[in-house]
Amino acid sequence: MAFAPAAVNLPNLTLYRWVLIAHGAWRWVVLIAGFATVVSAVLRLAEKQPWAPAGPKLGRFFSIAVDIQVLMGAALYLTLSPLTTLAMRPGGVKLPPGSQAYFFVVVHPAIMIIAFIAVHIASVLVRRARSDAGHQRRSIIFYGVTLLILLAGVPWWRPWLRM
Ligand code: HEM
Repeated sequence: MAFAPAAVNLPNLTLYRWVLIAHGAWRWVVLIAGFATVVSAVLRLAEKQPWAPAGPKLGRFFSIAVDIQVLMGAALYLTLSPLTTLAMRPGGVKLPPGSQAYFFVVVHPAIMIIAFIAVHIASVLVRRARSDAGHQRRSIIFYGVTLLILLAGVPWWRPWLRM
């Protein structure tokens, strides 16, 4: 498909840049929150510490951080990113598997939506445990799996911090 400069909306390009910077930087908040949630559960389980108040707060912060990241991702995906919006136009470019466009149109959103579902299932399962040790064990397993899914979906070849 030929690139049509007239079709590019300039205010959207500025917003695109800022949302891309924020989405890239917020990944660290998400990953650190997930890591802190899991490590804190491991330590408190080993030291036989109670789950509340730190456990529930960390878990809630982790899932809210993922929610915010998904919202920014959806804005990029649906309206702002030329990579995805140009590729999804009717009669748009073909997406060879393995290309960057294929990764951002198909692979990245699919993995991250699975992580979004996983973090919310984790919150419910952790809350339903009946003992401190149960809350902590479930936090390690379910938030840990969510963290691994997130790590697998991050485009690590992109800048680690965009300015
Ligand atoms: C929830 C966890 C998510 C994490 C940790 C994450 C992380 C990232 C990172 C690190 C980048 C590269 C940013 C850069 O190049 O500076 C990126 C780009 C992108 N993400 Fe996500 N993302 C998440 C969810 C999503 C979701 C759910 C969607 C879509 C619905 C999405 C859509 C995109 C798009 C379209 C880009 C590329 C934009 C472009 O280069 O034009 N992301 N993401």
